[in-house]
Amino acid sequence: MDLLRTLHDSARAELPEAVYDYFAGGAGDEQTLGDNERAWRALWLVPRVLTGVPAATTGIELLGRRLRTPVLLAPAATQRLLHPDGELAAMRAAAAAGSVFVLSTRATADLAEVADAAPGGARWFQLYVGPDRAHVEAQLARLREHGYEQVVLTVDFPVAGRRERERRGGPLVFPPGVALATHLGHGAGPAAKPPVGGWRALSWEDVAWVREASGLPVIVKGLLSGADARLAVAAGASAVVVSNHGGRQLDGVLPTAVALPDVVAAVDGAVPVLVDGGIRDGGDVVRALALGARAVLIGRPYLWGLAAAGGPGVAQVLDAFTQDTARALTLLGVAGPEDVRAAHVRPRR
Ligand code: FNR
Ligand code: LAC
Repeated sequence: MDLLRTLHDSARAELPEAVYDYFAGGAGDEQTLGDNERAWRALWLVPRVLTGVPAATTGIELLGRRLRTPVLLAPAATQRLLHPDGELAAMRAAAAAGSVFVLSTRATADLAEVADAAPGGARWFQLYVGPDRAHVEAQLARLREHGYEQVVLTVDFPVAGRRERERRGGPLVFPPGVALATHLGHGAGPAAKPPVGGWRALSWEDVAWVREASGLPVIVKGLLSGADARLAVAAGASAVVVSNHGGRQLDGVLPTAVALPDVVAAVDGAVPVLVDGGIRDGGDVVRALALGARAVLIGRPYLWGLAAAGGPGVAQVLDAFTQDTARALTLLGVAGPEDVRAAHVRPRR
């Protein structure tokens, strides 16, 4: 979409190089980063005509909520490096669009501040489990009172990927007033980027621990195989997110469009399957729906919107995705996201 190219160009021109490289970059030679986008486009769309359906709607039912769009905002770290309004702007834009904002553990705004920015907006909290278990439990204990509805446990980050572009860009310097929030509710966190290592090794039993510590359902984000999806369901996950972290972790892993059908088959309707990575327009959204996703998340597209134009930039991106999804659904001949079927796509040969 032209809009995304314009916002990306403007973000790139305005951001310090190290910040741009951190947000844009992937791991290694960035094979997976590129494959994510290409894999969606390796599916052709197969419309049906004369179906008698009027213009499609984009609303979906997801985990007990009615949303106005199947496009959600993925968790992403340190958004005040892109714009002073950071995560607050993203939260407000998601609420205005009837979407969901997923707040990162590594946010630059506390979870209460984000909640207060859009009290009625749907919000989930993404969890990284640091070495200090008591600290994590204290974060989780605050979620319900501030209206977070799900914990998104990210499972593809035992260590950071080999981030060569990030390293070339140089150290990420936090400007004055910008810090990682501790999510403990007592002001500013550490002033610099903490070491990315040191996460506690996680296992499937930790899904229950997170659920108990938060009193919330737990979504597992960052799996790429049917086998892991089955384990996630067995561990009581409320949903799974097929994700390779936007190509930022193990370079060379399969693109999410390729992983998604196996996960959908393994889960067999037990819980909703979400997907992210390289989704860049409404055509990509309906491709994901055709492969069995209930909803998608976007990362870099809204981050460039935030960098270029703050909250209105994020709103513009979400609106463009939602309108383009409505158009694609109508052109496919269906009435809404729930009516897209496997037969609406065919792989390129
Ligand atoms: C991320 N992502 C991420 N995921 C997560 O669970 N916690 C986090 O803190 C972050 N931080 C983060 C920072 C930046 C700069 C990027 C680009 C991504 C991954 C994110 O949630 C999502 O999986 C991908 O961004 C989706 O791919 P696209 O849409 O960016 O291609
Ligand atoms: C990243 C982490 C913070 O991808 O999720 O940079």
